[in-house]
Amino acid sequence: MLKKYYKKVPKQEIHKELKEKYKNFCDTIIHIDWDKILFNRVSFITAATQKFDKCRYLEIGCDNNICFKSIPVVDKVGVDPERGGNIKDTSDNFFKNNKNKFDVIFIDGLHIYEQCRKDVMNSLNVLDKNGYIFLHDMTPRNWAEENVPRLKNTLWTGDIWKVAIELSKTKGIDFFVINADMGVGMLKKKEENVVYHDDFENLKNSKFKDFLTLNECVNYIEAGEGINLILSK
Ligand SMILES: C[S@@+](CC[C@H](N)C(=O)[O-])C[C@H]1O[C@@H](n2cnc3c(N)ncnc32)[C@H](O)[C@@H]1O
Repeated sequence: MLKKYYKKVPKQEIHKELKEKYKNFCDTIIHIDWDKILFNRVSFITAATQKFDKCRYLEIGCDNNICFKSIPVVDKVGVDPERGGNIKDTSDNFFKNNKNKFDVIFIDGLHIYEQCRKDVMNSLNVLDKNGYIFLHDMTPRNWAEENVPRLKNTLWTGDIWKVAIELSKTKGIDFFVINADMGVGMLKKKEENVVYHDDFENLKNSKFKDFLTLNECVNYIEAGEGINLILSK
């Protein structure tokens, strides 16, 4: 439940110009300070990789390799068209040519709903049963962090929260969003063949204010619970 973190921005703190300029402006925020939480994406991904003998790791979107270099796995593939990783290409091209299977996949490439859901569907096809997929930036805390296209000088999750809604309705997986590091999605594949739940037509035009109600179907868990869940299952 995220509702316990909802807070109204006091009227006197609202920038009138922003409210007039952006029609998706919303005066409710999700009041979570990510800096106060003592785990991040690297903690969860590392915990999952430790469950496999000779884990095969794939990261989509590596940037300056902060995460990619930290994952303690020898057999790792990082895909990014700009910088970082060890394959300089888009995720779409990578999946077109790839013949390998993976145990743990981290999706952190283009933070736009259409691309992220494609990355998830392609990842599900190359993930072995009992493997894990992690996703970064599942929890926008305000309308500006969610806005597509990205606004200047803001942290940005984009609108990939819509993928969390679809995954929460997908059969054959366990799916949670961990309340840490801008929302870390954690998926465990329970069946060999998983069909991604398609809610695209309903979700494509949704904005942050819709997220505030649509997220009720998502299983949110606290960070320590996330670590315990990965280590125990
Ligand atoms: C948020 S950064 C990744 C950060 C990194 N995973 C980490 O944890 O430190 C997003 C990266 O995705 C890359 N990217 C953008 N479009 C992409 C695409 N179509 N396929 C793969 N990566 C993409 C960008 O070049 C950028 O480096």
